[in-house]
Amino acid sequence: MKVIKKIAKLLLLLFVAIQFFRPEKNINQGNHLAGFINETNPPENVKTILTHSCYDCHSNNTEYPWYNNIAPVSWWLSAHIKDAKAALNLSDWDNYNKGQKDRKLEEIIEVIEKGEMPLKEYHWMHQEAGLSKEQGEAVLEWARRTKTLYGLGPLPR
Ligand code: HEC
Repeated sequence: MKVIKKIAKLLLLLFVAIQFFRPEKNINQGNHLAGFINETNPPENVKTILTHSCYDCHSNNTEYPWYNNIAPVSWWLSAHIKDAKAALNLSDWDNYNKGQKDRKLEEIIEVIEKGEMPLKEYHWMHQEAGLSKEQGEAVLEWARRTKTLYGLGPLPR
């Protein structure tokens, strides 16, 4: 029993100690999506879908849930956001060249077709984030139409 108590105390101490290590937050209150919105011109329903289901991970601003204040959850979220932004950061749209924009839209089409995004873990706490068939189709329709802006046609498979 003594040993178990000691271990429990140690774990508690460890849990308290890790709370001091806070990852930097992904917050930007400015107009960071203006470039993307102006150029790709998503209709209102697609804008709403992107806001509820994608921007938290794929833009420079995350609406954090309360449990982000607890390590190690905060570390886990931070790592996810970092990976997501490395793959696709819609706040950085202006910095992608034509070919990259075309590729990003192709990837958006792919992940929506395959139902891979938003990530499964995100649904646990954001039940409204999963896309219905109609919502998926609205995003696909917009993405396919927008891809023609960059004039490169479908990519070779
Ligand atoms: C909870 C965070 C999260 C949410 C929400 C999310 N994503 Fe992602 N997304 C990721 C992560 C993490 C990766 C990187 C995955 C990897 O590298 O395997 C990624 C990768 C991608 C990629 C690149 C895929 C590739 O082939 O490299 C695209 C495109 C994408 N997401 C689109 C979306 C769209 C569109 C939405 C909204 C419908 C969305 N994501 C919502 C976390 C998220």
